[in-house]
Amino acid sequence: MDIHDPDDKSGSAYYLAPPVSDLDLVSVGRGTAGGELLRRYWHPIAVASEIRDVPMVLRALGEDLILFKTPAGSFGLVYPRCCHRGTTLYYGKVEERGIRCCYHGWLFATDGRCLEQPCEPGGGEKRDSYRQPWYPVEERYGLVFAYLGPPDRKPVLPSYEPLEILKPGESIEADGTSIGSGGDAIAPCNWFQHWENVMDPYHVAVLHSSFSGIQFIAEMAQMPEVSFEPSPLGIRSTQIRRKDGKRFRRVTEVAVPTLRVVPNPFAAAFNQPVETLGWVLPIDDTHYRIYTAGRVTRAGGLLPLPKDFKGSRRRWQDMSAEERQRKPGDWEAQVGQGPITFHSEEHLASSDRGIAMLRRLFRKQVEIVAEGGNPVGTVFDQNDAMVRFEAGNYLEEQS
Ligand code: FES
Ligand SMILES: [Fe+2]
Repeated sequence: MDIHDPDDKSGSAYYLAPPVSDLDLVSVGRGTAGGELLRRYWHPIAVASEIRDVPMVLRALGEDLILFKTPAGSFGLVYPRCCHRGTTLYYGKVEERGIRCCYHGWLFATDGRCLEQPCEPGGGEKRDSYRQPWYPVEERYGLVFAYLGPPDRKPVLPSYEPLEILKPGESIEADGTSIGSGGDAIAPCNWFQHWENVMDPYHVAVLHSSFSGIQFIAEMAQMPEVSFEPSPLGIRSTQIRRKDGKRFRRVTEVAVPTLRVVPNPFAAAFNQPVETLGWVLPIDDTHYRIYTAGRVTRAGGLLPLPKDFKGSRRRWQDMSAEERQRKPGDWEAQVGQGPITFHSEEHLASSDRGIAMLRRLFRKQVEIVAEGGNPVGTVFDQNDAMVRFEAGNYLEEQS
């Protein structure tokens, strides 16, 4: 029985329509609209320094995979089930030339080629006809990037200007914890809920300032003048706040496929290019993890707090459920939208125009892929691989 009444004027929850999510935005699996778009780009799947001499199991874009690093430093990313009789390579042994299955000892190279079959005649005379399903991997900025898409559409891994131009004393540091999401590495909701939040600068003055107290610097409590514009690879937002004859101009960006280009919300450094880049890895439809790489001047220096920071230094995971009710942050607001938000129940308002622009851009790219094209930002020539941003915190004289 359909009890939904579109003409109801009472506002009763009794007449709510069955909820629907926009699958173009939220789906991440192979063969889905969103998943096929995401598969046209490289994604960080691990922090390189976390990989030890045993295989690592991980999930990315809804696929369970095994990542390993040989003693010689080459990475391999393979389907977990051994192509012989299916035991998991999680129990495999990492060797100089690849990963050896624990069950019958088949040895696979980082590109899945079968190199040895110790139980077969002659050590595997037909071994060339077997291949463990695999994906290409590259290490950059302390992160391990993987390409999970069609091999003939593999773009070059982009270089990012904020991570390429270092001042004396700076180095690159990588991290795999969910900055802005409460301290847990893996957040239990769809990745797009977090990504589009970057184009929602208005919530900073409410959630992070007036509702839960000052979570960033005091200047951010002021409701900014906000503008949005398309950028070459995404959407750019400028937020202007004025104080003491100065103009605080903050520029944040999102870029395909999952990049958050957000200057330090503690504004530790003005008038210099954005220092960290974050990638929102869709783990599956209902989980994500943020990988970050940034310029630092000391070890452990990613996103430093200013010395006079007045907000809470308590870590999210140390707070009780009631404390989080009383002082919610990004984690609560975004996970609070549910594992996958219901777009059919939203009422976008004027403050959501950045969100609307981002969704339009993403849907457009889904369409391009569905029609056989290459989405924005996929480049196939190393000479075109440099990506530049305008994001930053700028302190200027009022004009
Ligand atoms: S199941 Fe892997 S070698 Fe037999
Ligand atoms: Fe936030």
